[in-house]
Amino acid sequence: MTWDIFLQELNSRNTAEQVIGGYVNLKRRGGTFVGLCPFHSEKTPSFTVYPDTNSYYCFGCGSGGDTITFIKNAENLDYMEAVRLLAERAGLQVPTEGADDSIYKLKKTVYEINKEAARYFHSCLLGDSGGAARAYIRGRRLSMATVRHFGLGFVPKGKGLLEHLRHMGFAESDILQSELARKGEYGLYEFFFDRVMFPIIDLRGNVVGFSGRRIDGEKDRKYVNSADTVVFKKSRTLYGLNFAKNEGSTIILVEGNLDMISLHQAGFKSAVATCGTALTSDHARLLATYAKEVVVSMDADEAGQKAALRALDILNAAGINVRVLQIPQGKDPDDYIKSHGPERFKALLEGAGSDMEFRLHKLAAGYDLQDPQGLAGFLKSAAAVLAKIGDRITADLYAGRLAEKFSVGKEALLYEINKAAKSSEFKRKKEETRKITGQNARPDRVNPERRARLSAASAEEQLIFILFRHPDLFKKLDGAFDENSFVTDFNRRVFRTLKEAVNLAANADLSCFSREFSAEEMGKITQIVNREGGEKNVQRELFDCVNVINREKSMPDADDMTDEDLAAMFQSLGGG
Ligand code: UTP
Ligand code: MN
Repeated sequence: MTWDIFLQELNSRNTAEQVIGGYVNLKRRGGTFVGLCPFHSEKTPSFTVYPDTNSYYCFGCGSGGDTITFIKNAENLDYMEAVRLLAERAGLQVPTEGADDSIYKLKKTVYEINKEAARYFHSCLLGDSGGAARAYIRGRRLSMATVRHFGLGFVPKGKGLLEHLRHMGFAESDILQSELARKGEYGLYEFFFDRVMFPIIDLRGNVVGFSGRRIDGEKDRKYVNSADTVVFKKSRTLYGLNFAKNEGSTIILVEGNLDMISLHQAGFKSAVATCGTALTSDHARLLATYAKEVVVSMDADEAGQKAALRALDILNAAGINVRVLQIPQGKDPDDYIKSHGPERFKALLEGAGSDMEFRLHKLAAGYDLQDPQGLAGFLKSAAAVLAKIGDRITADLYAGRLAEKFSVGKEALLYEINKAAKSSEFKRKKEETRKITGQNARPDRVNPERRARLSAASAEEQLIFILFRHPDLFKKLDGAFDENSFVTDFNRRVFRTLKEAVNLAANADLSCFSREFSAEEMGKITQIVNREGGEKNVQRELFDCVNVINREKSMPDADDMTDEDLAAMFQSLGGG
């Protein structure tokens, strides 16, 4: 079976409603299905499944694609792994011929190298060279059970790991890909040395990277983390999520590896840590698939408090409910549990306030509340913060509390909130109008050229839509139009991929894009091919698009033109 026929077979045996229905509770709405998006947290369904094109699109977060893309995202797999999973479901054999699985093979090898390294580090910790590391771990009050559970290890100085990996038969080029070693003037040298090692494990139990902590002195960086590799992206990895994901719908987010481990050891098994980076929107999306609520528990120092405020914004944007656990006396969760015990930490956890309380608290710190001017300033900015709360009842409750606490009239506060809400409502409307007229203030990340070349890009999209639905019309374009005619690069890539797929199989579905395009790009493509209309007189419409694109192609980018350029252009078009 060729690859294209295999993909078609895979798609016909795995319909979008079946596959996605296994993850999302879908309700029929007309010709489509809707449900709550699994990729961001939402209360009203904006996630749509189109049986017609075997695809999905979320109007809330913009992700979309075919069933392969869905599985990639839902299960955190790469393309070939998702194909394999769907093939298994459908009882199909994945053809080896034609499928480029070199990246899949490389990943598999890197997983093996990492696993072998983790084993090696663990045995070093328990062996002769591990004395100082064991003492360090004891000093941090980690039990042997914890050491085993998290697979902790020790990396001695020297080339022991390299020798071991070579002895196991791993090729130098693959070892370099794992970032456990680098190439220097005198050959390979090891990346980590003389550190306690924390293997970072993904959601399927693969070791994807390491974090290493120095055990003595101040002579080196406290923590060193693996560089990103084919199997490791720090901005998308949460340390401990493999353990935390099945521990209920509240996740505790901490800063440090050892905070996470300490919490687990004390019985708080839903703790996760970022791996040496600040929280990203990818982290938030990942959290949203496992948690309804996140309790942010950053360090009490200034850096930690700043990180907490940033994390709130990112988590709120992903629609996650957030509470903030504040640790007293400048400590981190690990210190606190060590000196006060799990019971006291549990009390802090239960008493953790809402994100709004934390924001107001931090806001107040910037004003002198003893001074009437200062207090007024604070209450006005607090009103602006409360105005952003979606529901009025909650805003009202906070207004009541603030009024009572600072002995001011609640009416005065509500008045300020209304004023702020109206002005932000006005901004929102303006933004919406911009979006509708295509003058979107936010850059279009998928097709950045779209904004400046709106009519060309719209015609390109309509053309792609028509060709996707009527692939036989590709023939009509021969000689008159090809990928070079495109104005925007993104649409050119979509066209090229579609054309190649149609040449191979006469007919193409969305899966022809899912290998090459990201989930965000797939979202855009899904939107294009699921447009309304375009069923009458398609051939004529196709050529209308071609004409628009050809005409627009010769025009310079409106954003780059001076007034004189524009005047000259109108003149040349006979408009002057
Ligand atoms: P902290 O400096 O708060 O350390 O760094 P910690 O977690 O309390 O560590 P211990 O208790 O002294 O062992 C928090 C996190 O920031 C990253 C690590 O992921 C660490 O866990 N970090 C810190 C680095 O990546 N590099 C560094 O040099 C320091
Ligand atoms: Mn610490």
